[in-house]
Amino acid sequence: MDKYPMSDFKKIVVPEGEIKQVVSRLAGEISGHYAEKKLLVCGILKGAFVFMADLVRHMTVPAQVSFIKASSYGSGSSSSGEVKIEQFPDVAVYGDFDILVTDDILDTGHTFFGLRDFFAAKGFSSVEFCALLDKPERREADIPVKFIGKQIANEFVVGYGLDYGEKYRDLPFVAALDDKIINL
Ligand code: IMP
Ligand code: MG
Repeated sequence: MDKYPMSDFKKIVVPEGEIKQVVSRLAGEISGHYAEKKLLVCGILKGAFVFMADLVRHMTVPAQVSFIKASSYGSGSSSSGEVKIEQFPDVAVYGDFDILVTDDILDTGHTFFGLRDFFAAKGFSSVEFCALLDKPERREADIPVKFIGKQIANEFVVGYGLDYGEKYRDLPFVAALDDKIINL
């Protein structure tokens, strides 16, 4: 039996098999870039947890892991532009690491933009960004993102870490949420 009724979804946007291919390609690119480096992969809670777990296991270079609590979203579904950061790696421990901030999806870009300033101000030496998914049509902040998995259309998606009201993070694929769920 399906965990959630398939009628909750408009369509499957990235099936499980394609996610595996995308993650494995990204892991290869990242491993090439960070060979011989001290790397800290830093996931943005909570959405990055599934992607990051798969990503670091596909990488062929060692990485330490950490999480940051940051959001540019209030309780609604559009970005405020302000980034709230509540939990982050200790610069005394990780200051000389190359940091790869990892998220499930790049949307307006405000979260990454805010984090770049934050990490620089704290004294971290190098910060790059990685997102599994990207909605380029939605971009507001000008932030270079070195590693992008897959560009998707401007629709609200869930699964593989992505949520709607904390639901659907536990799906193995990425799906567009049906309008009837969004308008509930
Ligand atoms: P940004 O700061 O606008 O780039 O926001 C990125 C964050 O917004 C992600 O970490 C997600 O938490 C959330 N987000 C953006 N688009 C979606 C979506 O389609 N589904 C679920 N969460 C989303
Ligand atoms: Mg998020």
